[in-house]
Amino acid sequence: MLKIALIIGSTRPNRFADHPAKWIAEGAKARSDLALDVLDLRDYPLPFFNEPAPPIYSPGGKYNEPAAEAWRRKIGTYDGFIATVAEYNHGPTAVLKNAFDSAFFEWNRKPIAFVGHGGAGGVRAIEQLRGVAIELQMAPIKHEVNIGREAYLGVIQGGKSLDDFAYLVEARTALFDHLVWWGDALKGAKAARPRG
Ligand SMILES: Cc1cc2nc3c(=O)[nH]c(=O)nc-3n(C[C@H](O)[C@H](O)[C@H](O)COP(=O)(O)O)c2cc1C
Repeated sequence: MLKIALIIGSTRPNRFADHPAKWIAEGAKARSDLALDVLDLRDYPLPFFNEPAPPIYSPGGKYNEPAAEAWRRKIGTYDGFIATVAEYNHGPTAVLKNAFDSAFFEWNRKPIAFVGHGGAGGVRAIEQLRGVAIELQMAPIKHEVNIGREAYLGVIQGGKSLDDFAYLVEARTALFDHLVWWGDALKGAKAARPRG
């Protein structure tokens, strides 16, 4: 079974991200092909990347910053990732980008899927993160969940739940299905060619 981490990508008080995070975790419970842990960036108060060398030049080396060291080691224990993506000024949150910057080898050759939220469902932030993920030698999954204005307002003002939006439930299923496909494929390939 694949070990997947759901990274909550925004940390402000009263954040909307708790809604999609809870909903993704609920959806994951119904699956027998993945086990999901939630990694809340509030629990990993990373410094802005503050090491003397870029992560790509320190394989096996130890970071000076204990919080960054704990983060990258944690990331290394997973087969794949889902991130909640709030869109701030047409980009991802700084805390999420910094979390990506704070590891390298630990992300390599693993799939990642995105759950965006914001006025336009986080699409512009997700597009930027796809490029970041490729640079980290990850496989960003095409299928994403976009929680746009209608569902966002429905949840925070209209007493609705994300389950009330059938297109979101369908998108969540596709996201899981394709993340698992890529996760299995990459895990198998890495086992066959560990130094390839
Ligand atoms: C600083 C800031 C900038 C934002 N910029 C955008 C934006 O450019 N486009 C957009 O669709 N929503 C934007 N929003 C709205 C957020 O994407 C939306 O409220 C999101 O759900 C916030 O996630 P959070 O509550 O987990 O922080 C912005 C919100 C903040 C706080």
